[in-house]
Amino acid sequence: MTHESFNPIVRLVSPFLFCTILTTASAAPLPFSQYDNQVASLLAQMTLDEKIGQMVQVDLLAITNKDDIQTYFIGSVLSGGDSKPAGENDPQTWLNTVNDLQSHALKTRLKIPLIYGIDAVHGHNDVVGTTIFPHNIGMGATRNPKLVEQAEAVTASEVAGTGIRWAFGPCLAVVQDERWGRTYESFGQSPGLVSEMAAAAVRGFQGNTLSSQPTSVLSCAKHYLGDGGTENGIDQGNTVCSEATLRRLFLPPYRAAVKAGVGSIMVSYSSWNGGKMSGDKYLLTDVLKGELGFRGFLVSDWAAIDQLSPDYRADVEQSINAGLDMIMIPNGPGKTNNYVEFIRDLKELVAEGKVPQSRIDDAVTRILRVKFQMGLFENPWTDPALTAQIGSPDHRQIARECVQQSLVLLKNKNHALPLKKDLKHLAVVGFGANDLRMQCGGWTISWQGSGELTKGTTILQAIRQAVSPETQVTFSPDGSGISNADAVVVVVGEHPYAEMRGDRTNLDLSAADQALIQNAKASGAPVTTILLSGRPLILGTALDASDAFIAAWLPGTEGEGVADVLFGDVRPTGKLPREWPSTDQQFAADKMTGKPLFKFGYGLTY
Ligand code: GLC
Repeated sequence: MTHESFNPIVRLVSPFLFCTILTTASAAPLPFSQYDNQVASLLAQMTLDEKIGQMVQVDLLAITNKDDIQTYFIGSVLSGGDSKPAGENDPQTWLNTVNDLQSHALKTRLKIPLIYGIDAVHGHNDVVGTTIFPHNIGMGATRNPKLVEQAEAVTASEVAGTGIRWAFGPCLAVVQDERWGRTYESFGQSPGLVSEMAAAAVRGFQGNTLSSQPTSVLSCAKHYLGDGGTENGIDQGNTVCSEATLRRLFLPPYRAAVKAGVGSIMVSYSSWNGGKMSGDKYLLTDVLKGELGFRGFLVSDWAAIDQLSPDYRADVEQSINAGLDMIMIPNGPGKTNNYVEFIRDLKELVAEGKVPQSRIDDAVTRILRVKFQMGLFENPWTDPALTAQIGSPDHRQIARECVQQSLVLLKNKNHALPLKKDLKHLAVVGFGANDLRMQCGGWTISWQGSGELTKGTTILQAIRQAVSPETQVTFSPDGSGISNADAVVVVVGEHPYAEMRGDRTNLDLSAADQALIQNAKASGAPVTTILLSGRPLILGTALDASDAFIAAWLPGTEGEGVADVLFGDVRPTGKLPREWPSTDQQFAADKMTGKPLFKFGYGLTY
C-alpha cells in the first residue's frame, strides 16, 4: 500500500499496516476495520482535547471565529437547513467555504481533516442550480431501487462537487401517520419498501463501500429509531408501542442500511414510550452497535441532546454514555449550550469519571475509522471536475426519469389520459402549475422551501415545450378563461413546509383547490388533476370532479417528467407508497381503521 500522504501519521504506520493486511487478508474484515491499526496509532497520540474536538459538529453560522476550529480541534461542521455561506449561493462559493474551513483543520497538530455534513435529502438541495429530485415519498412510489441508487449517486457527485463528503440521508422513517410534517421524507409506510430503498440509497451515496473515491459521500441513515411512529404524527413526539412492534416496524431499514455499510446514523429527536432516543443506551448501544453490529458513528440531531433535561451538563453525560459519538451543536459563543460549553462539560465529566475515557476512545475510534476509510487523510480536497457537473443535463435526465416513475395514476375515466399534443386549446389552471417552490417542497434552497428560487422547469413550461406549435396553451392560476378549452390540466396541492411546520391535524385538500377543480369540470372539457403534495390528502369532491387524477408528490426541478406522462411519451408506473385515507379517521396506517380510498401499491397505467 503506497500513497503520498498529507499526514505524517499515515506514512509512519503504512508499512506496518501493509504487513497486517497481508496476514489477515483471508479473514473478512469487519466493516470499517481495515484501518484499525492506523486509528489506534493516531488515537494513542491524541490529547483529551483533540479527542473531544472530534466529537463536536458545529453549525456553519455558529463559527464566528474560524480559529476556533484549531483552538478546539473541531472535527465536523454542518450546514443546517438555513445555514448558507456568505455571498452567492452557488457551487463555487460553497466549495471555497468548505475548503477554507478544511484548511483550518489541517493546521492542527495532528492534521485530522474535518468532515462537512449537509441535508442532501432530494439532491444537493441547499445550493442553487443543483439537480433536485422527487422527495423520498415519490422515490418510494417508483418501486425502483436501482433508480434510487442512481439518484443518490448523482446527489453524491453534486455534494462532493462543493467539497462536502457527508449527506444527512437517507431518511428511513416508516411513517404511520401522514399528519406528520416529514411524511414526504420517507419512502413509505412499509418496513419492507423502506428497507429496500435504504440499502439502495446507502450504496448510491457511498458506492458499494465507503471509500476514498471522490464521489463516495458518507451516508447518514436517519432518524433512529421510530421517528415515523409518533402519536398523531407529532414531530419529535412519542412513539408508544411494544418492543416487538418497534422492532417489526422501524428496525428493518436500519438492518438493511448497516448491511449496506452505512457509515453514520443520526439519532431521532423522538421518544419511545416516553424515553428520548438521544439518551436511550439500550437502543443506541445494545441494539444498534451490539446486536446489529454497527461500526460507524452516531450523530445527534440539531441540539437534540438539549431536550433531555434542563441541565446541559447532564444532557452531555447522558447522551454520550448512551452511545452518541458526535454531537450536532448549532450554538456558538454568546449563546447557551454552545460548543465551548459542550467541550468544557465533557472534559469535566471525564475528569470526574462520569464519562469513562473508554467511551471517549470508542466514539473517536468510530469517527476516525470513517475518516480513514474515506481517504480524507490522504486527500481532504474535492475533485474540481465534479463541480462543473453540478446540474448537468445528464444529471437532470436521471431526475426526469425519477419524476416519470414516481407519478401515481389514481383515476383515468374514459381514457382522458394521455393528452393529445395537438389539441387546439389546452388550459392549464392553478398556481402550482408554474411554481418551482410547490414542485420541490421543503428542504429546497431554504429549510422551509419558501426562500430563494432554484433553477428548473415548471409543469407549465414542460407542457408548453411538449405540445405542437399550433396548440394554444393558456395558464390561469385562478381558473379563468377556460370556457373553450379542449382539455384542462389543474395543478393543486400543498405549499412548501418542513419538519414540525408541516404537522397537520386535518389533511383536507383546500376548499380553494376543490373549487378550482369544480370550476374546471364546469367547463365541460376533460379535467386532469395533478396533486403536488408531501402525502396523501383527503380529496373530498376533487376525485369525482376529475376525469384523470395523478398523485405527483413533490417532483423537484424536472417538470418535464410530468409532461412525459401526461402526453403518453412515458406510461405511468408509480405505485402508492402508502394507503390513501378516505376520511380523517384512517391516518394511523399501522392501525388503519375502515377502508382506505386506495390501497398501498395501487396505481393505474395506460
Ligand atoms: C434537523 C432535522 C435533521 C437534519 C438536521 C440538520 O432538525 O431533524 O433531519 O439532518 O436538523 O439540519
